[in-house]
Amino acid sequence: MALVPTMGALHEGHLSLARRARTEGGALVVSIFVNPAQFGPSEDFARYPRNLERDLERLGPFAPEAVFAPSALDVYPSGFSTQVDPGEIGMGFEGASRPGHFRGVATVVLKLFNLVRPSVAYFGQKDFQQCGVIRCMVADLNVPVRVVVCPTVRDPDGLALSSRNSYLAPEDRHAAPVLYQSLRLAQEIFQAGEIRASALLDAMQSVLAGEPRISVDYTAIVEPAALKPVAEVETGHVALVAARVGATRLIDNLIFGPRCATEAELIDSAFPQSAPR
Ligand code: PAJ
Repeated sequence: MALVPTMGALHEGHLSLARRARTEGGALVVSIFVNPAQFGPSEDFARYPRNLERDLERLGPFAPEAVFAPSALDVYPSGFSTQVDPGEIGMGFEGASRPGHFRGVATVVLKLFNLVRPSVAYFGQKDFQQCGVIRCMVADLNVPVRVVVCPTVRDPDGLALSSRNSYLAPEDRHAAPVLYQSLRLAQEIFQAGEIRASALLDAMQSVLAGEPRISVDYTAIVEPAALKPVAEVETGHVALVAARVGATRLIDNLIFGPRCATEAELIDSAFPQSAPR
């Protein structure tokens, strides 16, 4: 059985995970749960888009065997106490900007695994650090679930689809593709032979600096297993970017590799099928 965990407000990115699960056979369960434990106190939990009816409609063509949409009390009954702390892999980047976020993510994903008991679960590369956190948890805690990472689905102008894109004012939506443009430029320079991370980061930062509506939170180039910054870049290393566009925080990433590599090959170079470490 396959599980696609989501927080709803389903878009083509989520649906691509369901599609992939379907092509690989077996029963499909999609979970929809806006997980309070992964939102900080000043974050958007209350206004996070929720529309179960529309989500069910969007899932219709994939005919999941079940859609699991528990209430917060189902998942966290009174007296709930135990949490999963992902340790170092969850500390930098999103973990630094959003303290406790990955503890909330790891805890709910392990609970979903235990409730649904899938043999395989599908996650999006869009949330690169989340993929690393889940893979690490599965390896560290001997969780019998295969984790499959799927490519980021983008709008035609390159902006990674996200439920939070609906918050963007029109001018901000117009500015937002600059994140992907900065990543693409780094990839092109890498493919032309530049391997110094500092030079690739400079190129990214100069693209981002050209868009006054953007305020950069971080840019980094890291190896994929523990997300440690690298000085020299090779295939399978990853560029990460997080920025605020207006009031909305967006993240994106790109896996370095040769021009001829397919997205599947790039994902494989960062997340080999074997155990992550
Ligand atoms: P959510 O943001 O709803 O995303 C659910 C899944 O869809 C995640 O694996 C995410 O990486 C993937 N996804 C989102 N945008 C995508 C895109 N543009 N292309 C491809 N995949 C995309 O991530 C979460 O929910 C939660 O943290 C969750 C794992 C459900 C735990 O609560």
